[in-house]
Amino acid sequence: MQPSYYGGSKEQGFGVTILYEGTDYEILVETVCWLPGRGVTPNGHKNWGVVVGLDGMETNINWHRKDDGVKLGYAGLEVRNDVMLTCGQTRTFMPDNIHSVRNERDTSALSLHVYGRNLSQTGRFEFDPASKAVKPCPTRERSKG
Ligand SMILES: [Fe+2]
Repeated sequence: MQPSYYGGSKEQGFGVTILYEGTDYEILVETVCWLPGRGVTPNGHKNWGVVVGLDGMETNINWHRKDDGVKLGYAGLEVRNDVMLTCGQTRTFMPDNIHSVRNERDTSALSLHVYGRNLSQTGRFEFDPASKAVKPCPTRERSKG
């Protein structure tokens, strides 16, 4: 594993290293390093994805959206289940899936992500289950691998 894949922004809570981006945004390959005790709020990807655990353990929480999506800025979510991802384990996403991630350990968790469209181009959303707010996903800090 490249040492450069580890580490990340303390503000963001994780680091993203781009390994490949299609010239027409048709595919994205990246590693994500989840800092100890950190994670990300529920988010969707609006395209297919595959994640492979490389090091450490990340907890993926799958969410179910209860509302019909008609009310702008509103989403009612409830937890569906948790999936632990360790080295060699995989998970897949379909466009409507919503998940959050948490690294509960005191060491970093590293995973490989492949998406069918560059996440910067999908117009995807992130969610706050407590306030039931939904908003555009912020641009992630990234580095080139
Ligand atoms: Fe995600």
